[in-house]
Amino acid sequence: MILSGHARLAGVIGWPVGHSRSPRLHGYWLDKYGVDGAYLPLAVQPGHFEQVLRALPHMGFAGANVTVPHKEAALALADHVEPLARRIGAVNTLLVRPDGSLEGRNTDAFGFLENLRHGCPGFSASAGPAVVLGAGGAARAVIAALQDDGVPAIRLLNRTAERARQVADELGGGIEVVPWDERAEVLEGAATLVNTTTLGMTGQAPLVVDLRLLPVDAVVADIVYVPLETDLLAAARHRGNRTVDGLGMLLHQARPGFAAWFGVMPDVTEELRTFVGGT
Ligand code: ATR
Repeated sequence: MILSGHARLAGVIGWPVGHSRSPRLHGYWLDKYGVDGAYLPLAVQPGHFEQVLRALPHMGFAGANVTVPHKEAALALADHVEPLARRIGAVNTLLVRPDGSLEGRNTDAFGFLENLRHGCPGFSASAGPAVVLGAGGAARAVIAALQDDGVPAIRLLNRTAERARQVADELGGGIEVVPWDERAEVLEGAATLVNTTTLGMTGQAPLVVDLRLLPVDAVVADIVYVPLETDLLAAARHRGNRTVDGLGMLLHQARPGFAAWFGVMPDVTEELRTFVGGT
């Protein structure tokens, strides 16, 4: 990496930020496309977030990614927020506009859909009902993506039903809340199944779900990427379902930010998956 005095600057703001794969990911693309730019891990405590956000334009930053626990604060503090980010309730990508104001976007829905379109050519959420497990921040992005891609109905299940009801109220548009215990029955006739919970992640409890009623032409997605192939994805693949993993979503959601800050829309390749995916 060779930087000039004109180097474009971006980074990821989080607390903690040490686990983030974004610096490795963006660093790979900066090298690949020969960009005069840098992408840094920025460890910022919640109490200092606003100060740092306000300083970005004055430090010449083109923008930044925002991760846990700052995504909701970024939504509240950005000068301009795109409607999709407002709907999802979180900002994960900030752009410094020419006038120095901050624009907040959410690229998780884009990442989710692009990953499905690349991993399962011809995918369209309009093919049939979707089952979404989980009602956290990731679920909101996934639901917005499915709605915008024309899903006819969403069956939403969460351990804490109240949280699912709140998401259904806020995101509207054909979301049926189903009890968590009915996750086997609810799969009948579904075209898409998405796990947005942390279940199945290394170190977390397993995700127990009987796939027998899921049509074999349904597509199964997991947002967990450690391990790369979760038990859910392995079980789905063995019975003939097409699957996409969480690493793909992570890589695709990063593309619009890189394009906005550094001027090149980057590609997701097998080599990149190996480079970023190694645990
Ligand atoms: P994020 O915002 O990244 O999606 P989150 O808000 O912590 O993360 O959400 C994690 C999801 O995993 C939630 O849907 C959570 O269910 P609750 O709302 O009931 O907490 C789900 N989850 C985590 N551990 C779980 C477990 N042991 N059993 C069932 N669901 C679990």
